[in-house]
Amino acid sequence: MCGIVGYIGDRDAYDVLIKGLRRLEYRGYDSAGLSLMPRAGELNCYKTRGKVAELERYAQDKDKSGTLGIAHTRWATHGEPNDINAHPHYSQSGDLSMIHNGIIENYVTLRTKLEQVGYTFKSTTDSEVVVNLIEYIRNTMGLDLCSSVQHALNQVVGAYAIAVIDRNDPNLLIGARKSSPLVVGVGENEFFLASDATPIVEYTNKVVYLDDEQIVLLRRGEEMKIVDLSNVVVTPEIHELTLDLSVLEKGGYPHFMLKEIYEQSRTIQDCIRGRVNSEGTEVILSGVSQNRDKFMAAGRIIFVACGTSWHAALIGKQMIEEFCRIPAYVEYASEFRYRNPVINEDDIVIAISQSGETADTLAAVELAKQKKAFVYGICNVVGSSIARATHSGSYIHVGPEVGVASTKAFTGQVTTLAMLTITIAKERGTISDERYVQMIKSLQQLPQQMDVVLKQREKIEELSKIFTYANNFIYLGRGYNYPVALEGALKLKEISYIHAEGYPAAEMKHGPIALIDAEMPVVAIATSDSIYEKTISNIQEIKARSGRVLALVSEGDNQIGNIVDYVIEVPTTDEFLMPILSSIPLQLLAYFIAVNKGRDVDRPRNLAKSVTVE
Ligand code: G6P
Repeated sequence: MCGIVGYIGDRDAYDVLIKGLRRLEYRGYDSAGLSLMPRAGELNCYKTRGKVAELERYAQDKDKSGTLGIAHTRWATHGEPNDINAHPHYSQSGDLSMIHNGIIENYVTLRTKLEQVGYTFKSTTDSEVVVNLIEYIRNTMGLDLCSSVQHALNQVVGAYAIAVIDRNDPNLLIGARKSSPLVVGVGENEFFLASDATPIVEYTNKVVYLDDEQIVLLRRGEEMKIVDLSNVVVTPEIHELTLDLSVLEKGGYPHFMLKEIYEQSRTIQDCIRGRVNSEGTEVILSGVSQNRDKFMAAGRIIFVACGTSWHAALIGKQMIEEFCRIPAYVEYASEFRYRNPVINEDDIVIAISQSGETADTLAAVELAKQKKAFVYGICNVVGSSIARATHSGSYIHVGPEVGVASTKAFTGQVTTLAMLTITIAKERGTISDERYVQMIKSLQQLPQQMDVVLKQREKIEELSKIFTYANNFIYLGRGYNYPVALEGALKLKEISYIHAEGYPAAEMKHGPIALIDAEMPVVAIATSDSIYEKTISNIQEIKARSGRVLALVSEGDNQIGNIVDYVIEVPTTDEFLMPILSSIPLQLLAYFIAVNKGRDVDRPRNLAKSVTVE
C-alpha cells in the first residue's frame, strides 16, 4: 500500500526515485508521481494514474534534473485513483510539496477550517489538507518548516508517513511517521527515505527506522536530526541491513510469485537454521527461552492477524491446543481491536504478520499491550513496526516476499509456529521426550519433501488448463487441512479473480453442497491423517452429486484415485506439519490458472502487499 521514496544528495534524484518506486510496486498502488527540485525556487511535479511505467512515459520529455526529490505510489483511500488525487500534493502557494501514506481521520474538520481562511483544494484527498495545514501554520506563526510540520502533525488524528520539500530550500528533505512505516537510508553525503528498505539497499546498508511521532531532518552536508512531536531531540540508532539485492530480482522466473513458491525448500531451511541443534535433538527459540515464565504461566494464547497470516494462525491454534494444552483463539486483528475483547494479564497475544506493518495487526498489538498481555510477534520483515512494538518474537527468516499473494511467508509462518509449539510443549511437559524428538525429525525432513512437491509443476500446470474455465471453486479440508483449504481458495481469488470458497469438508452438507454440479470444481485436501476416512465420506457426497473433484492425497494413496477425477500426491509427514506441504500444490494451481487467464500475477488488481491503512 502507498509507497514513499525521497532522496537528497549528489545523484540525479529522478533515477533513484523511479528505481525506488519500482522496488515498491509490490506493495500495490493505482497511481504514481514525483516532485523534483532542479534549483532553488523551482519544483517540477509529474503524476499520473496507472503504473510507474506510465509515469516514466509521462516524464519522458520533461525536465528531470535535480538532486532532491520525493516520489509516491498511491493506493486510493480518500478519493478515486486519478491524476489529481495522485501524490505529490502542493500547498496553496506552490512552495511545499508532500507525499503521504496513511489516513488522516480528522481531515474534514481541518479542511473546513482551512477553507474558512481562504484555502482551496484541488484534490479530494486527506493528504492535500496536511500540506496546506503545514503551510498555514508556517505563514501565520512564522515558524521554520520543521516546527510547522511538528505543529501540524500535533493537530492531525490518524496515521501518516510523510515526506515534505520546500522549493525555497533545495537542501532540506523532511520526513515524519506515525503508524505508517518510514526508513531513512544513510549514505556518503546523501540520504534516502522510503516506506521500507528495498529502494535503499542498492545504495547503502545503513538505515534508521523512524519511530511513531518522530520527524527527521535531512539537510545536505549535515548529520541527520530527529525530533519528536514535543521537540525532544532523539539520537538516531543506525542499523545494518543484511538484505541481498539479488533477492529483490526475479532471477529468471516470469513472476516473483513463482520464484517465491520455488524458494520454499530453501526458505524453510533458513527458517529452521540456528533453531534446531546440529544433532537434531533440540529446538531453541530464543524468544521463548527468554520469556519462559510467561509461556509456562500462560492462561490463553490469542492469535491476531489478517489475510494469509490469519490462516497460519488457525493452524497455530490447533498445534498449541493439541500439543501444549493451552486454550488458543484466533482473531481477525481488525475485529479484535474494536470490540473491547477480554484480555487478561496472563494471556499471550501472538501477532502474525509477514510485512510487520499491517495497520490493524499493529493496533491489535497496542491494545493487547495496554491490557498488559505479553505480546509476541511472528514477522518476516526485520525491524518492521510490529516486530518492534511487540515484547518479544521470532522472525520467520524467509527473505523479502514481493509477490502480492503470500506463499513462502505462509509456509515460514507455519514452520515457526511448529517450532514455537514444540518448544512450549517441551517446556510445559505436555509431550513426551520421544514425541519431541520425532517432531523435530519431521521438521528437518520438510525441505527435502518440499522439493518433491515442487517437482509436480508440469502435472499441476496441465491440470490448471482443465480448470481455467471455472467461475467458482470450492476448497475442502478438515483438521490441519481446513486452514489450507481457506488459503488455497484465497490464493485463487487473489490472483485469478475466480470466486472461491474454503470450507471445512463436513460443513458442506449445511449449505454449500447445494452449489455442487458438474460445473463446480472441488479441490479436496485429503491427505492421510487421523480424519482421512471422514474426509473420504465427504468427497463421496460430492461425487454422488456429479461434482468434479481434484484431490490432494498422500503419496501411495490408492483409494481416492478410484473415487475422484484428478489426483495430486504429496509426501507424508507428521499431521501437524502437513499444511506446509499441502499448501504448495494449491499455490501452484492458483498461479497457473491466473497465468492461463492472463492476470497480472504479482500485482493483482485492488490488492496491496502491505496494508498500512485500516
Ligand atoms: C494483504 C496481503 C496478504 C497478507 C495480508 C496480511 O492483504 O495482500 O498477502 O496476508 O495483507 O499481511 P501481513 O503482512 O500482516 O501478513
